[in-house]
Amino acid sequence: MKTKVKARAVYKVFGEAPQDALKRLERGETKEKILEETGQVLGVQDANFDVEEGHIFVVMGLSGSGKSTLVRMLNGLIKPTSGQILIDEDDVASCSPERLRKIRRDKIAMVFQHFALFPHRTIAENAAYGLKIKGMGAAERRKKALAALDQVGLAAWADSYPSELSGGMQQRVGLARGLATDPQILLMDEPFSALDPLIRREMQDELIKLQKTLKKTIVFITHDLNEALTLGDRIAIMKDGRFVQVGTAQEIVANPADEYVSAFVADIDRGRVFTAGHAATEPAAVQLSATAEEALRVMEELNRNALYVLDGEKIAGVVTYQDLSASARGDRDETGVASVLTTEYPRAAEETPLHELYGLASSGLPVAVVNGEGRLKGVVEPESLFAQLSTDEHSTDNAHNTSAKAAS
Ligand SMILES: Nc1ncnc2c1ncn2[C@@H]1O[C@H](COP(=O)(O)OP(=O)(O)OP(=O)(O)O)[C@@H](O)[C@H]1O
Ligand SMILES: [Mg+2]
Repeated sequence: MKTKVKARAVYKVFGEAPQDALKRLERGETKEKILEETGQVLGVQDANFDVEEGHIFVVMGLSGSGKSTLVRMLNGLIKPTSGQILIDEDDVASCSPERLRKIRRDKIAMVFQHFALFPHRTIAENAAYGLKIKGMGAAERRKKALAALDQVGLAAWADSYPSELSGGMQQRVGLARGLATDPQILLMDEPFSALDPLIRREMQDELIKLQKTLKKTIVFITHDLNEALTLGDRIAIMKDGRFVQVGTAQEIVANPADEYVSAFVADIDRGRVFTAGHAATEPAAVQLSATAEEALRVMEELNRNALYVLDGEKIAGVVTYQDLSASARGDRDETGVASVLTTEYPRAAEETPLHELYGLASSGLPVAVVNGEGRLKGVVEPESLFAQLSTDEHSTDNAHNTSAKAAS
């Protein structure tokens, strides 16, 4: 995979004597001490990261931790005091102003928390703003703006004015404006932070959906760890200008680097971080040809109330302990699992977030976790689903350790 954005030893000092501040930092002085004694502000200290093409890299941290400074350095709005920032092969920290303008125009779009829509221009004109700057003709501008509005679900509002749209819809226009120029890289600085929680969730889901087809390289800034964990392929947690941890959502939740990160992790919504794949135990199943007695024995061994039934490699359905034991007591000819098979069963993809399984699990049957070909990869027992959502940090590891055998 190709690295699209790369930062190496990036520092930003705000003030008159940045080199002095860096020397003090080298000597081990803290951000506070340097500020107190010299008035220099350490915006970003020693940032190092790679963003792979098509990935979402989230930078999360409290107010003042240096997130905006970092993202502004990525598109050259702020020059680093030292270090390298590569966009493909170009170092935006040191390339010529013309080269920087070209990179910005051709490759990068930025979406902000509070970006201004022009009140007297239509939604389509607002969405086309970046294209106008590029010098594109009116007809083509409109075409591209409409396509971008369509991507964010606002095609019908193209000829309305900003005042007719809700805050959430206006924020979508901001996203459409970013998408209209078809940038390779999207920089998003707290784009959803001003939205109501429900709308915010919707926008997050929509970004994930869009990203499945667009596959942009995105650097997304947030001060919300839930948002970071939901969106990020990788996440950097910033404190006082430094990265305290960089990793996947699961890595960060399972192994917070320090107390600062742990404190954030304590509040997260596990149902959105972990997926059906994480919660699934190994696929315990019997073949369709199995007898009721065989299936019952497997269930007793594994302590399960229900068991999936395979026809070769395909899922045929599920059988419950209750139905099987009733059948095993009955007529001899009807004691195969096939006779009590339930062919309607709850199923989810490996990447489905756990919170989407609540409804499925309410049937009481284990949820079948299937891969792209529809093969059974594991099951999520309703009880284990609720254990996953508890704040016990080790519950997800335990699920993997529950091994199960498949009988035929
Ligand atoms: N132009 C500037 N001049 C001096 N100091 C600055 C400037 N811009 C930012 N800073 C300082 O740099 C540090 C990082 O600020 P930055 O805006 O990057 O934080 P942030 O993480 O984006 O915060 P927020 O969540 O509030 O947006 C802060 O201490 C801030 O006061
Ligand atoms: Mg900021």
